[in-house]
Amino acid sequence: MTPPVRMILGSALLFAAAVVPGLGQNTGAKVVPKLQPIAETKLLMEGLANPNFRGLERNLSKNPIDDQTWTYARGQALLIAECANLLMLRPPKGTQSQPTWFQETMDLRTQATRLAQSIAKKDLASAKAGMQNLARSCNRCHQSFRVPVDIVPFQPVPPPVRKI
Ligand code: HEC
Repeated sequence: MTPPVRMILGSALLFAAAVVPGLGQNTGAKVVPKLQPIAETKLLMEGLANPNFRGLERNLSKNPIDDQTWTYARGQALLIAECANLLMLRPPKGTQSQPTWFQETMDLRTQATRLAQSIAKKDLASAKAGMQNLARSCNRCHQSFRVPVDIVPFQPVPPPVRKI
C-alpha cells in the first residue's frame, strides 16, 4: 500500500469508529446497562404480583399437592420476588416517600423469597404462614401509598348467587 492510500484507509476507519456506535468500543471495557422502568406500576400489579399471588392460593389449597404443583408454586413466589426488583425501579416521585417505597419493596422481596424456600421444602404450614406474611407486605405498601386494595389470602369464595 502506498502511504497516501494507507492514510486514507486509516482515517476512514477512524471516522467509522466515531460514527458507528459500538464500533471501536469492544476493547474489553465493561458495558453497564442502565435499568429503565417501562411498564406502569399498575400493570406489574395486575400482570405479575396479583395473578401469581392468586395462583399460589390455588396451588397451596390443592389436596394433595403433587410435585409439579410444588414446583409451579415455587416459581410463582419467585416471580413475586422478582416483581419487587422491578418495583424498586419505580419509586414514587416525591423524594420524601422514596425511602418508604424502597423499604416496602425490599420487604416484598424478602417475604416472597422466604415463601419460595418454604415451598421448596414442601413445608405446607410454613408456606401458609408465609402467604399471610406476604399479604401483610402487599397491604403495608398499599396503606403507605393510599391504594385501596386489601389482599386477604385464602378467603373462602362466596357461593354464587342463585337466581330464583
Ligand atoms: C411497594 C409497594 C407495593 C407492594 C409491595 C405491592 N403493591 Fe400492589 N399496588 C401498589 C401501587 C402503588 C398500586 C396502584 C397502582 C396504580 O393504580 O397506579 C397497587 C395496586 C395493586 C392492585 C390494583 C391494580 C388495579 O387494577 O388497579 C392489586 C390487585 C395489587 N396492587 C396487588 C398486590 C399484591 C397481590 C401484592 C403483594 C404480592 C402487592 N400488590 C404489593 C404498590 C404495591
